[in-house]
Amino acid sequence: MSPTKPVSVLDLHRMKAESRKITMLTAYDAVFARLVDQAGVDVILVGDSLGMVVQGHKNTLPVTIEQMAYHGAAVARVTEHAHVVVDMPFLSYHVSIEEAVRNAGLLVKEGAHSVKLEGGAERAATIRAVVQAQIPVMAHIGLTPQSFHTQGGFKVQGRSDAAADKLRADALAVQEAGAYAVVLEGIPTALAAEISATLEIPTIGIGAGEGCDGQVLVIYDLLGMDKSFKPKFVKRFAELHDVITGAIGTYIDEVRTGAFPDDAHSFGTKRQKVGGESKATGTEGPKPLLRAVYGPTDS
Ligand code: KIV
Repeated sequence: MSPTKPVSVLDLHRMKAESRKITMLTAYDAVFARLVDQAGVDVILVGDSLGMVVQGHKNTLPVTIEQMAYHGAAVARVTEHAHVVVDMPFLSYHVSIEEAVRNAGLLVKEGAHSVKLEGGAERAATIRAVVQAQIPVMAHIGLTPQSFHTQGGFKVQGRSDAAADKLRADALAVQEAGAYAVVLEGIPTALAAEISATLEIPTIGIGAGEGCDGQVLVIYDLLGMDKSFKPKFVKRFAELHDVITGAIGTYIDEVRTGAFPDDAHSFGTKRQKVGGESKATGTEGPKPLLRAVYGPTDS
């Protein structure tokens, strides 16, 4: 894939047709977007999970459309390869279809390639309208975090026959409404595999087992940034909590003992030959001080 041509929804459909697994990870800022993009992930999700992992809320409900636009713009600005999908937050697409289209458009104007919204059959009309506005929609069914209160917390969905039937119907409804892909979150492996095999559009699983067409994780979970958070579906591919707190601890020690900053990380004066004598510069007022701070702009 060319680095200047971002992954499109057509590329994602081709990947499903060719049985190539789709990789998706969250990023909420430019630093992580660059890392995730340079590592070669197919899709970056600017998830409203940022309400929990960045803002420190207990669920995603407080997140606003303005905040999603802000984070989406930061990610889109630096992403060169991956497809950037930005979450529509709670209440940004529930009140009216017109509002949903306007809010989806706002995210696209800030750089999103597509938007994601939660819900099945009950969101079909909204998905259809947003797609008609030329904005690709990724759907999200199963455990939908914005349904925190109606689902009674973060609970695995689709375990009873009736609940499984509802999920099957939801998956078909969002596909029929024009969604280009669907996230399956927190549902039994066998059901997710069956839905994935039935649908023409790709399924992206999180806590939905191996049968999905792709997988998504929250980047901080994958990296092991929060030692206290280890649900069953998360695999930590690194233990960065220890690496980061270790580095910060060393910094604290070195500042306290005076080991940092040493000469290698401090600015000296520049010695110049003036009339045969070696004379220190950089002590005669504000201009040389600026030079010392901002670098060798003097010749
Ligand atoms: O907000 C998010 O990060 C998500 C993923 C967990 C799928 O919706």
